[in-house]
Amino acid sequence: MFILTWSPLLAFFPPSEISEINKEKLVSGIIASMTLEQKAQVLIGTGMFMDLPDSIRERFGGNQEKQENDYSKMVEKIRKYLPGAAGFTSEFPESGVTSQVLADGPAGLRISPIRKGEEKTYYCTAFPIATVMASTWDTELVYEVGMAMGNEVLEYGADVLLGPGMNIQRDPLCGRNFEYYSEDPLVTGKIAAAMIKGVQSNGVGTSAKHFAANNQETNRMSVNTIVSERALREIYLRGFEIAVTEAQPWTVMSSYNKINGTYTSESHDLLTKILRDDWGFEGYVMTDWGGGSDVVAQMKAGNDMIQPGQPQQIETLIQAVRNGELDEAVLDKNLARIFGVMMESPKQKGYKASYSPDLKAHATVTRQAATDGMVLLENKSNTLPFSADIKKVAAFGNTSYDFISGGTGSGDVNEAYTISLIDGLKKGGFESDPGLETIYENYIKEAHAKAGPPKNWLAALMGGKEPVDEMQLSKEIASEMADKADIALITIGRNSGEGGDRQAVGGDFYLSQIEKALITNVTEAFHAKNKKAIVILNVGGVVETASWTKIPDAVLLAWQPGQEAGNSVVDLLTGKVNPSGKLAISFPLSYDDVPSAKNFPGHEIKSDKKDDAADLSGFSFMKRVPWEVVYEEGIYVGYRYYNTFDVPVSYEFGYGLSYTDFEYGKLKLGSLKFNNKMTASVEIKNTGKFAGREVIQIYASAPKGKLDKPQEELVAFAKTKLLQPGESEVLSFTITAKDLASFDEEASAWIAEAGKYTLHAGASSKKIKQSAEFVLAKEMPAGKVTKALVP
Ligand code: BGC
Repeated sequence: MFILTWSPLLAFFPPSEISEINKEKLVSGIIASMTLEQKAQVLIGTGMFMDLPDSIRERFGGNQEKQENDYSKMVEKIRKYLPGAAGFTSEFPESGVTSQVLADGPAGLRISPIRKGEEKTYYCTAFPIATVMASTWDTELVYEVGMAMGNEVLEYGADVLLGPGMNIQRDPLCGRNFEYYSEDPLVTGKIAAAMIKGVQSNGVGTSAKHFAANNQETNRMSVNTIVSERALREIYLRGFEIAVTEAQPWTVMSSYNKINGTYTSESHDLLTKILRDDWGFEGYVMTDWGGGSDVVAQMKAGNDMIQPGQPQQIETLIQAVRNGELDEAVLDKNLARIFGVMMESPKQKGYKASYSPDLKAHATVTRQAATDGMVLLENKSNTLPFSADIKKVAAFGNTSYDFISGGTGSGDVNEAYTISLIDGLKKGGFESDPGLETIYENYIKEAHAKAGPPKNWLAALMGGKEPVDEMQLSKEIASEMADKADIALITIGRNSGEGGDRQAVGGDFYLSQIEKALITNVTEAFHAKNKKAIVILNVGGVVETASWTKIPDAVLLAWQPGQEAGNSVVDLLTGKVNPSGKLAISFPLSYDDVPSAKNFPGHEIKSDKKDDAADLSGFSFMKRVPWEVVYEEGIYVGYRYYNTFDVPVSYEFGYGLSYTDFEYGKLKLGSLKFNNKMTASVEIKNTGKFAGREVIQIYASAPKGKLDKPQEELVAFAKTKLLQPGESEVLSFTITAKDLASFDEEASAWIAEAGKYTLHAGASSKKIKQSAEFVLAKEMPAGKVTKALVP
């Protein structure tokens, strides 16, 4: 048999002339030239290696044992390609197999910023967290952020970025919500697709994660998510479906959890039937780090690569083939997918990384992107933007001085700096009170020393800080500052991350008594002097707002906006940029109002099954407790629940203020009857005094039919260009049958039911400005799928 191997062909054809057919031949040639051992060594990652500080190593134990052989020498070598990257795949240069460097994460590339014995630094840009990206509702902007992020991936020598994170923000307490986009699958899918395209425009890959229904951190390695087929298809899978079909991420990362009894990484239904057969995914699937328990089942399910991988898993694969439990053809199929991606990777193409991405240019990108995703929640009597006579600012709240750029865990970027609010104010030409600065700086130093390393084990492992309680501020200081300063800024901060969920208590979801007193006392002191107070929320997710946001004069939701944080906030405060962000997640009145509150984070299950009880693979410090969570709320997640069941919220999905006003013209439909699609357009006019941008949200209300429907569902959105006062723009939308459809479990198909539909153009899910009706004469199929993941 004549086998095509890589090297001779490459010598013959330059990479640009290698056609798809040649690539396929090359890939099968490579596979045919490999031994079973080598195959297993590619399918299983090369292990976990973290260059940990000694203090952390002592707390969590060391790295895996070293063995001396050809494989270990190769592993030793490839780990040096990019210190601090999360995963590396094996290389076999003689067969043309290059290593793939896999590095986190959603808010920027995560690598080690410093290397032993080198003066050069390898900092990366901390871009705004995913939730900020979604709140921009601006796919073009997200594409640009992706381009900048992907450039750092390329120039630092990585091949695949482990992001975007695109799980649904089912519950406000999920500790990783900051890495995710929205409670809505359309926003999630469209923003993720833009991010994937932006990153991949650099010729590097992404990994859409965590596939799927990974909506909590509590017992994330073992939780069994019980969820209906309909909720899966419409809510938890839909975002991935949009991203995969529109943007083809190079890879997908399966999640840790089980869905309806099976680990996602072992689910043939999920990884083959749905992802590949239904959606046409072309890349490879990797596990989350240590996910699942049975590598043979993973291989068969279509989970092509195991990360980070352990030597005994390599052995298991080899034995499984030898004893006939696993057909080698399965491995070859998985390898072909891995090599399909490899063929596109920078390393395979011989790209020489510069190790010098333009961090300055990327800082400008992140500064601007963050302003577009911040949400103005309150602005009484046009408190913002600052009037010209504001010169002296008093900044209260720990996080004014210790601003949080992003969350903790693998999504935490090692950036060179974070501009705090106080830094941003000074750079913006404002004066702040040095006495107040000293009080806060001293408190923060002492409080951190007292708090010790983070309780969240992953934050500790990754060198994060334990959040500290807000400083108690005396009324005297508040009043002294009200004499001295022109305005008060009060920052309330929250941080969370991988490995732990948040709590519905004061100091976390709710404000603490100290924080509430801070807002009240400072506002009263400043009001007594006819001055104003503004609250800035430096948070990664939802906090309770109903009980306090009417107290200050304005509230700006700054989120965790990346490393240019303070500059971005000041750009909005001064009106250099007009706020245009809108909420992609609802802010409920109280935690008890959240539809998943009764079922979060689930409960322990008594199980006699060995699989459920033990820590079978992955990291020893991630204990597996048999656990179950039931998504009893079904499709009624976020606004789908609040709006349908008339549950009042503090700020609704889609909400956000601007310094200007917009007028919505009539919502014009292409026709009164729905054929294969419907076009709609609306003219938006800036009727205020500031230049600004508006997010237009198109919701559909369906007729009552056999399937239950939410009151309305988002079916399209767009953002205007920067409109000058008096200027207008017509925005057009195309609505397809799939946009109107629901998932019919009985038929395993998407269907749009017959009847009268109403489209709404809204400034939020509640602020509906214009509506128009059309008729769908008879039920319309919108895609039959494979029956899968039945509870
Ligand atoms: C996280 C992933 C991450 C991986 C590699 C896991 O613990 O869940 O999101 O990409 O580690 O760091």
